[in-house]
Amino acid sequence: MASFPPPVVNTIDWSNIGFKIREVNGHIESHYSHKTGKWTDPVFVTDPYIRLHGMAPALNYGQQAYEGLKAFRTPGDKSITIFRPDRNAKRLQHSAEFISIPPVPEQLFLDSVKAAVALNAEFVPPHETGAALYIRPQVYGSSAQLGLSPPEEYTFAVYVVPTGVYHGSHPVKALILDEFDRAAPNGTGSAKVGGNYAPVLRWSEKARQEGYGITLHLDSKAHEEVDEFSTSGFIGAIVEGDSVTLVVPDSKNAIKSVTSESIQDIGRSWGWKVEQRSIKYSELPNFTEVMAAGTAAALVPIRSITRRMGPSSPQSLAATVNQHPRLSTSNGEETVTYIPESQEDAGSLCVRLLTQLKGIQLGKVQDQFGWCFKV
Ligand code: COI
Repeated sequence: MASFPPPVVNTIDWSNIGFKIREVNGHIESHYSHKTGKWTDPVFVTDPYIRLHGMAPALNYGQQAYEGLKAFRTPGDKSITIFRPDRNAKRLQHSAEFISIPPVPEQLFLDSVKAAVALNAEFVPPHETGAALYIRPQVYGSSAQLGLSPPEEYTFAVYVVPTGVYHGSHPVKALILDEFDRAAPNGTGSAKVGGNYAPVLRWSEKARQEGYGITLHLDSKAHEEVDEFSTSGFIGAIVEGDSVTLVVPDSKNAIKSVTSESIQDIGRSWGWKVEQRSIKYSELPNFTEVMAAGTAAALVPIRSITRRMGPSSPQSLAATVNQHPRLSTSNGEETVTYIPESQEDAGSLCVRLLTQLKGIQLGKVQDQFGWCFKV
């Protein structure tokens, strides 16, 4: 029997992986019918194209949810591990509930994710690159249905693609979106559903063209509190003497980030404080560093956060500009700068946290938390 894991394929330039689609061996599928009340055993499918009725609610009513997690090759090609898949299984169940999709049982999720990785093991990037096999589980209403009621059949699938990190590793400028609300106050903001992402595209594209690599969403009711970045969770860090505090939003409209929770646990293990609470816009100048945490993003150092003051951005900080060395104002814009333009490197807290997280994920640092599941 061939040994596992197999060597990596030689058809990919591993020094330039990027974040884009690359075809692999195949994906996993399981199907649910209300007639049986059960999910079928997962099967491996080599064709990446799916056969789906054009009237499926997944395509018409956005009845769809997805996940993102990663698998890594450990040193010396000894094994492949998946980072905290149990958390993603639970989050998918949380998302599915919002859109009336029957829950994917945790064991089916874990088995399917493991199988998708194992059957594409030669696409898990070399350990030395620090890159990962990105895993994309998805669940959707798949039988034809015209009326606005849950359909009879659902598909759960797990795709994989080898990737580097989404935003790269250099500091990124963020823009607060005031013209657009990502999530209604009592809406679906905490669910990882496509409907929370597609409407952001035109704003994030516009922001990118203006030099902002990421957008930041405030609460939609009052535009006073931080919800999350468009692709990832918000973490603010405050250094006072020897003490470090990580502050994360407790908004019910932000997606629970597995990466952010892992970063918080790492911080706690070093004796850092962690506060989960509402974060006011006016607090942004108090942070020493800000980071965006997500599976695809890993941990992105935020260079600055800019807000364009207008009718829907009521709390100008301009009057306090003299009290805050990180704050500057110009042409109706307010910018809090954490990493000056002259600096290409992340802040020291971000570097330390990311090194520890990647060390655990890549099997270089002892996994004291039990986060890595062996394939
Ligand atoms: C992830 O980080 O896994 C996500 O799903 C975010 C997506 C925009 C790439």
